[in-house]
Amino acid sequence: MAILRTCVFLVSVLGYCLGANILYLIPFTAKSHYIMQRPIGLELSYRGHNVTVVTAHKEVEHPPNYHQVMVDNKQIWDVLGIKRPNVFTMVDMTSEEFHKNILWSGGLAFTEVALNSSEVQKFLKQDHTFDLVISEQFFQESMYVLAHKYNAPLILITTFGNCMRHNIISRNPLQLSTVVSEFLDVREPMSFWGRMRNFYFTLYEFVVWKYWYLEKQEALVKKYIPNLREPVPSLYDIQKNTSLMLINGHFSFDNAAAYGPNIIEIGGLHLTLTRSNVSLPKDLQNLLDGAKNGVVYVNFGSNVRSSELPIDKKNAFLNVFRRLKQTVIWKWEEDSLENKPDNLFIRKWLPQKEILSHPNIKVFISHGGLIGTQEAIFHGVPIVGIPIYADQFNNLLQAQEIGFGRILEYHSINEENLWNILNDVLKSSSYKNKAREVSARFKDRPMSAIDTAMFWIEYVLRNKGAPYMKTPGLKLNWFAHHMLDVYAFIFTLFIALIFVIKIIISTILFKKESPKRENKKKYN
Ligand SMILES: *[C@@H]1O[C@H](CO)[C@@H](O)[C@H](O)[C@H]1NC(C)=O
Repeated sequence: MAILRTCVFLVSVLGYCLGANILYLIPFTAKSHYIMQRPIGLELSYRGHNVTVVTAHKEVEHPPNYHQVMVDNKQIWDVLGIKRPNVFTMVDMTSEEFHKNILWSGGLAFTEVALNSSEVQKFLKQDHTFDLVISEQFFQESMYVLAHKYNAPLILITTFGNCMRHNIISRNPLQLSTVVSEFLDVREPMSFWGRMRNFYFTLYEFVVWKYWYLEKQEALVKKYIPNLREPVPSLYDIQKNTSLMLINGHFSFDNAAAYGPNIIEIGGLHLTLTRSNVSLPKDLQNLLDGAKNGVVYVNFGSNVRSSELPIDKKNAFLNVFRRLKQTVIWKWEEDSLENKPDNLFIRKWLPQKEILSHPNIKVFISHGGLIGTQEAIFHGVPIVGIPIYADQFNNLLQAQEIGFGRILEYHSINEENLWNILNDVLKSSSYKNKAREVSARFKDRPMSAIDTAMFWIEYVLRNKGAPYMKTPGLKLNWFAHHMLDVYAFIFTLFIALIFVIKIIISTILFKKESPKRENKKKYN
């Protein structure tokens, strides 16, 4: 009896230690964001935590301790109240326009949709306790106030790699000469003007974000999340207090950068969920197995629609594909495609990471989205990239510089350019070799990406928010943190020294010169 009681006691204590109550906020509706972040919630629940996920994408199969609070699944164009534009036209947007018209206006509208969703409102009114709040870091900062509401540590996740504004707030090194702001496309990032552009844009983004965007997010807090425990800290301070940031990057592919211990790279996480077991549909399996000359795989991601290509560019693709001996598989969003060559197969949807894992894939023609780029890296597939917006140019520039991909600028798409670039990547073995090399080093880690994420999330839980992981620089004002007071002091000393030396020299010279002058006068 006593033994049984001890067992029950031990099990309940262990249960308490192992299983935390975790709130996971990933309300942004874009599919690619969900693909990257989905494994974290599922894996936490497999490991015994009681997870509540605020999301727009419903999981059908999940453990019983995985709960979902559904956000209305609206597309960005619906929430912005505009007709869906042809996404290819976004290639001409500056990074400033992209932030103003898409990220900031879309972010505000999406946050409002999420907070105003009936299930979310119902959830907010219920009584819950959470040991930890995890949230995506993507223009829905008002959600972070829930960490204050439940008095729990906050962990943030990026789907896009390094986050400049977070680095500024959390006093992580900016490294503007080598790390480009996440959604800024700079042709030569390390040239003088490249660095100047990065500096200017980072400053611009931070100032507008801090003084305009966060104010708007604060207003959404007031409107949709009432009855918070007073005093309510500002969203800026809540983010500054973040325990941990998990970023979707890895130094084997991204530029190596220095981070404090509270920023952890988990790039490629969605490729390492061991429990997912998706296999290729039979028809695709047969098609890929039977492609004796290899396969060219074309997919511009979930937001860009190939079928919206202007007619001349579409024809360039068709004419080039017709001349290839390889099989071509293209994600094409319409039922038919006029003039379709016999070696081209179209599908409205394709299971991308399973396709890229097939040994017959020779090249991936892509828009350079980070998820797809990581999938190509993981499976060692060379890329021909046509960047359209956001971080796509940076991802592809990195692939090109490392040597497993080539960029084809959207405006340069014609039969000749596409043929030349595609054939270069198909025929010269250097791209394939480099892709294999990067694949190997991308996977060469002490722990898989998902295990790394789990370790650090549970680390924060075990260590009550682990505040000691933050730099003590946060206690200083920005002037002192950047050593500007010390530099100013040394500079002043230096100027003073020059001044003193100048006085001494001129006094000596004056003494020597003065008799001469008197002499001169005499002669006159
Ligand atoms: C798990 O979380 C849900 C909220 O989604 C809550 O209702 C439930 O009581 C929690 N279970 C435990 C064991 O804490």
